[in-house]
Amino acid sequence: MPRPAGRPGLTAAREALILQAMTTALKFPPGVQSHVPNFIEETGIMHIAALLGSPRKQGNSTALATAFLEQAAELGAQTQAFALNQLSYKGCQGCYACKGKSETCVVKDDLAPVLEALSLADIWVVASPIYFGQISGQLKCCLDRWFSFLVPDYMTNPQPCRLTPGKRSVWVLSQAGPEGAFGDVFPAYANFLKWYGFVDNRLVRAVATGQGGARDLNPARLQEAQALARELVS
Ligand SMILES: Cc1cc2nc3c(=O)[nH]c(=O)nc-3n(C[C@H](O)[C@H](O)[C@H](O)COP(=O)(O)O)c2cc1C
Repeated sequence: MPRPAGRPGLTAAREALILQAMTTALKFPPGVQSHVPNFIEETGIMHIAALLGSPRKQGNSTALATAFLEQAAELGAQTQAFALNQLSYKGCQGCYACKGKSETCVVKDDLAPVLEALSLADIWVVASPIYFGQISGQLKCCLDRWFSFLVPDYMTNPQPCRLTPGKRSVWVLSQAGPEGAFGDVFPAYANFLKWYGFVDNRLVRAVATGQGGARDLNPARLQEAQALARELVS
């Protein structure tokens, strides 16, 4: 795909900085993260960061997220996927450093660049199997680290989040149970994302899955994921 033209006024150095941040574990100096605009606002390129929360490389949720990402990439988006199970990281340590002197999470492990990528991305893809009625542990430990995006007085501040508002999310959830089960998972997290300035949260859901993973996946669900990419990336 030809690269879309950058936004007028964006310097080559600034664009290089953003591109570097998207692809490497660039360490921002203190305070910078809160001023980083969404990727598309500066470059004209939509960036999508995906969290793959299933330990199964051939799992349903990974296949659906991949279908979305591949379609989005075909349409010119820059995509990045993080297979959480392959990373080494901790959940939130509850140290509250991000509510004190630090504007970023002070835990420096494999999630540090993931959090940076999320902070810049226009769309977050959040994919997970349902385990015991919830998202997977791999995803939950990552998600708790999103706490670092909130400002110290997030409970009362009308702008509770350091992220640039206007992001969108696509949740991909896969479960063995039927349609009527575990429908509470997505709305609960979508509600939290209001704090984070998200303007649109979507769900792609595979229900009544077998144990075979993606090879048993209903093709209609893959088409749904691709159609959603076409709707959101344009
Ligand atoms: C540890 C574990 C817990 C599970 N708990 C549930 C559950 O509570 N409800 C459910 O419907 N399916 C449950 N399942 C089934 C998975 O959600 C289902 O196989 C899902 O499609 C897997 O997604 P994946 O292919 O993306 O890994 C569980 C599976 C495992 C391994």
